[in-house]
Amino acid sequence: MKLIKQIIDDLLTPMLEDFWKVPLWIRWALVVVTCAATIPLAVIYRARHSVNEKPRIHIIQNMDNQPKSVAQDGSEWFNDGRIMRPKIEGTVARGDMAGDTHFFMGIEHDEWATTFPTTVSVDKAFVERGQDRFNIYCTPCHGATGYGDGLIHVRAMTLVETGANGTSWVAPKNLHESLIKEQPVGQLFNTITNGVRTMAAYASQIPTEDRWAIVAYIKALQFSQDADPELVDGSASFPQKNTQGGDE
Ligand code: HEC
Repeated sequence: MKLIKQIIDDLLTPMLEDFWKVPLWIRWALVVVTCAATIPLAVIYRARHSVNEKPRIHIIQNMDNQPKSVAQDGSEWFNDGRIMRPKIEGTVARGDMAGDTHFFMGIEHDEWATTFPTTVSVDKAFVERGQDRFNIYCTPCHGATGYGDGLIHVRAMTLVETGANGTSWVAPKNLHESLIKEQPVGQLFNTITNGVRTMAAYASQIPTEDRWAIVAYIKALQFSQDADPELVDGSASFPQKNTQGGDE
């Protein structure tokens, strides 16, 4: 115990001696500063433990406060005094569509539909409409005959090869691949509607019925690529695919 006291004395005595040499006003200033340092703590304590009805001090306004109506507000603008308006009869909110899942989603009994919905009639005019829409919306990537060799693909490949614009490109699918040929019409419809992996959705650009028309055309296109020539009148006079190779 004695030893500890001595150590403390040895340390403190010179410090205290020094302290008394400091001018009086500085000593007072130290006392004042020490007391003042507790004020922020006291203010914080008070702020945390009291309730204030006034809004916070809000120096930078940006657009935080503006005259507007939010949900459940009252309004003098409308006769019924409500700002929220009732649904207009017969409207369907985006994403709220229910009912005909075959026509709108290509789904029947929880499976991809294998037939066209009864609301469309698949005839020549319908397929031609599909061809027209396909040529507009799909050929840039999938190519006029659906082999995935559209101009965008060609251009992208040159950019990838020259390294000019990024290094990766997911090629549009060849629509004559057996995996796609086997797909039910509902699945094709869904691909156009919602997109697939890197391919974008076309629901907002192509009306529902036209999307079915495109599906009909894709089916015709797939059929045409390995159809039996006998099925076409006068096919004998057509230039034939050279299946032997190096004949002439
Ligand atoms: C901007 C280019 C682009 C356009 C335009 C485009 N596609 Fe695609 N499509 C792709 C790409 C890329 C893929 C492959 C996506 C992947 O594998 O990530 C694809 C894949 C597909 C597939 C295969 C889906 C599967 O199950 O693998 C089908 C079918 C298809 N597209 C149909 C269409 C139809 C029909 C249109 C026109 C309405 C169309 N695409 C327009 C780029 C495009």
